[in-house]
Amino acid sequence: MTATVTAQAVDNRTYWTNEEQKLDQQVHAALFPGGQTAIDRLAKQGKRPVRDLINELIDPGTEFYELSRIAGFGMGYPGVDDVPCGGVVTGIGKIYNNWTMIFANDSRVKAGTYFPITLKKHMRAQAIAERCGLNCVYIADSGGAFLPMQADVFPDDQHFGSMFFNMARMSAKGLKQITLSTGGNTAGGAYIVFMACQSVMIDQKAYSFLGGPPLVKMATGEVISAEDLGGARVHTQISGGADHFCTSQEEAIARVREILCLEKPQQVRIQRFEERPPTVPTDHIYDLLPAAIHQGIDVRAMLQCLADDSMFSEYKRDYAPGRGDNIVAGKIRIKGLPMGVIASNGVGIIFVEAARKATEWIVRCSQEKIPLLFIQNAPGYMVGSESEHMGMGKYGADMVRAVSCAQVPRIQLVIGPDNGAANYGMCGRAYRPHFLFHTMRSRTSVMSGRSAAGVLLSIEERNRDVKGNPMSEEEKKAFSEKMINKYDGEAHPFYCGARLLSDRVLKFGEIRDWLAMAFEVSLLAPIGEPSFGNFRF
Ligand code: COA
Repeated sequence: MTATVTAQAVDNRTYWTNEEQKLDQQVHAALFPGGQTAIDRLAKQGKRPVRDLINELIDPGTEFYELSRIAGFGMGYPGVDDVPCGGVVTGIGKIYNNWTMIFANDSRVKAGTYFPITLKKHMRAQAIAERCGLNCVYIADSGGAFLPMQADVFPDDQHFGSMFFNMARMSAKGLKQITLSTGGNTAGGAYIVFMACQSVMIDQKAYSFLGGPPLVKMATGEVISAEDLGGARVHTQISGGADHFCTSQEEAIARVREILCLEKPQQVRIQRFEERPPTVPTDHIYDLLPAAIHQGIDVRAMLQCLADDSMFSEYKRDYAPGRGDNIVAGKIRIKGLPMGVIASNGVGIIFVEAARKATEWIVRCSQEKIPLLFIQNAPGYMVGSESEHMGMGKYGADMVRAVSCAQVPRIQLVIGPDNGAANYGMCGRAYRPHFLFHTMRSRTSVMSGRSAAGVLLSIEERNRDVKGNPMSEEEKKAFSEKMINKYDGEAHPFYCGARLLSDRVLKFGEIRDWLAMAFEVSLLAPIGEPSFGNFRF
């Protein structure tokens, strides 16, 4: 028995290590668009890659928690398939010990212009900042809207203008909006400089104007250089549209730090306990989680790898064995932060008993004002007449209501199947978790490839029968395979990450650190009072 378990553990570890190497490759492509040639071109312009600037901006020796690095691959935009990293770097780092949201256009990706995915990524980071009460620093170097797609990036809510709407609203709430312009900021893009609480411009490198020199010439006949039209000198000495004149990127970064050095210290709105390492190493997750996505898991063992002292205080442990324990609920602490846990267990199918337990626990944690961690590995709610008659629909709806209304910070971590209404009940994207993390084991889609193929095949078979042209066995097989490939492909963390359905694909070894950061940041804003509306019971 022990030998079998060990062999399985070795297989699991090998499998996930390989999978995470694929993630490393994807991330490398995102971090180095255009390779060394692009870095050399930047150097000729007197610029360094944006992550170098960010590392100087944050406190020495601290980590930059970069979000959604694999955004933008395989988007199929007109003439542009990949937008590495979505064209904008976003993430959270500490400046004078205060968590700060940092944005940086990567001018190596189509001059840092905004595609739909760039906007989505920018808005997502602003939404996190606004909700959690973080100051924002924008390292701006962008050609503005990606012009061939203007209709998809300019006029709507959540399009280009929303970036500045968000800046204005956050500034009104007292959240500092600081812009460091290190390159072009043209037309609408100029507002990133002018809307800031304070903006820093670099001589001979930063430009900001409502219309660039070619447009000015066309519109008015005036011939003028970019520097004389809207360079750092113009805006810091003549127009007053920017506030700080610097002569190099290094000086500009130091100035931004100085602007933020007297900010009020942030405060975590919960009793924080002493941090204790887990007694089971986090790394043991590689042994635990099966390579087969639909194979059952022991989530209690996984919690031991994440929790301080590996301590899990479980709620209703003995309730309805085999049905109620497809979700486990309870409390853990991560790096001293207490949290409620709702975690899929076994094969994760949610029965009535599990849904009721989860709902109760969400309400209890809300009353206690402790945040919630959802660990998602559920292929759906239980179907069939027994389940329907027992009220699966209404108890599932209660769970969805509790998740929707819980006023405490909520974070979702997906470690397996993430299908159907279980995506709702376990706090999927539509339920606006403060952070949502995928792993290489997550599969998010309306149903699994196999189920979708079955459903769609039965519809196709019926259509063909009606037309008097029944499907042959080969046609059925080909149809099923096509659907399985499509659904499984779209459920993959790369496909979802490209479209920003996660805030980051985490390696198993990163989960504890990232959860600690994400809960700490989510707990910076005051927690409201519980209010749930009408449960069905
Ligand atoms: N829309 C679409 N593509 C754009 C673009 C835009 N707004 N701005 C730049 N690009 C593309 C360029 O065509 C080029 O594509 P390529 O690599 O396939 O040839 C790439 O981005 C890099 O641009 P390039 O001009 O070579 O970079 P640069 O560093 O020399 O100059 C800018 C950067 C931003 C100063 C310059 O590209 C520019 O002035 N762009 C137009 C800005 C504008 O008028 N925007 C208004 C939109 S609101």
